[in-house]
Amino acid sequence: MKEKLDQIKEQALAQILASDTAEKLNEIRVNILGKKGELTSVLKSMKDVAPEDRPKVGQMVNDVRSEIEAVLEEHKTKMENAMREARMKAEVIDVTLPAKKAEIGHRHPNTIALEEIERIFIGMGYEVVEGPEVEKDYYNFEALNIPADHPAKDEQDTFYVNGDILLRTQTSGVQVHEMEKGTLPIRMIAPGRMFRADEVDATHSPSFHQVEGMVVDKNITFADLKGTLAEFAKELFGADTKVKFRPHHFPFTEPSAEMDVTCFKCGGKGCRFCKGEGWIEILGCGMVHPHVLEMSGIDPNEYSGFAFGVGLERIALLKYEIDDMRLLYENDIRFLKQF
Ligand code: DAH
Repeated sequence: MKEKLDQIKEQALAQILASDTAEKLNEIRVNILGKKGELTSVLKSMKDVAPEDRPKVGQMVNDVRSEIEAVLEEHKTKMENAMREARMKAEVIDVTLPAKKAEIGHRHPNTIALEEIERIFIGMGYEVVEGPEVEKDYYNFEALNIPADHPAKDEQDTFYVNGDILLRTQTSGVQVHEMEKGTLPIRMIAPGRMFRADEVDATHSPSFHQVEGMVVDKNITFADLKGTLAEFAKELFGADTKVKFRPHHFPFTEPSAEMDVTCFKCGGKGCRFCKGEGWIEILGCGMVHPHVLEMSGIDPNEYSGFAFGVGLERIALLKYEIDDMRLLYENDIRFLKQF
């Protein structure tokens, strides 16, 4: 019996010392000390031992058990210490390393220009509104006095979702949404993205932004339009800026005009920036066509209004003297950081 116990002990100790994980140790504990373990089976075979020898054998089994348990415990602690030490070594923090810099984003030139435009018009009592980018033909064309066979439709070729729904070619449709709300007077600007089937080059993009503007009230005249847009130009490009209105045609305004501002580089003398013109075109505008008012339920005998549309990219390019529109869409941080 003693030999059997010694053998169990030797084997157990060897296994314990050779094991390198907590799982293995536990396995050994179960195999030897557990209910069905080797040592327990020795106790079970006590019935074969002579009654007078039983206490002695019992004592021996208990001694072996304690010894194994002690070694198990000791080995476990040693292993845990070694693991903790290894972990500490692996987790060393070098406090002298330079900190990781958080890359902070930057406002896009378009955004800066838009915020400037919004600031100016909000200062004049305008509301900033938005309209849908995916639009019905009615709002983009029809209600703006551009019927199905109008040549302006060809000029503003765009992306159709189906025959009746398209990506808007201009923000002017927001005028119609605002008029349909039925609340007068209207004094709004509507910035937003619009789309045209244009090839990408330095001055064209299939998608860019406009800021639409509209005022509808009693007794609104072309003088209001001129005064408002002249003030806008001064705020945007400097107090010395002069404006010039050239007759133009837009189906939804009558009369219509394009507005030029004196070149803010040369003050109007003519330079490379304004291609020797002294003037730079910045927007389209006009008095809202009576038919357009009427289609949206506003009586043109009682109310009148003016409207305008500014290309946002055009303003950003001019203000920051950027010579290629594509730069605005590439989102190269080295470019964006400059503004
Ligand atoms: N929607 C016009 C365009 O895309 C710009 C424009 C011109 C808007 C005159 C207006 C306006 O509101 O009155 O070219």
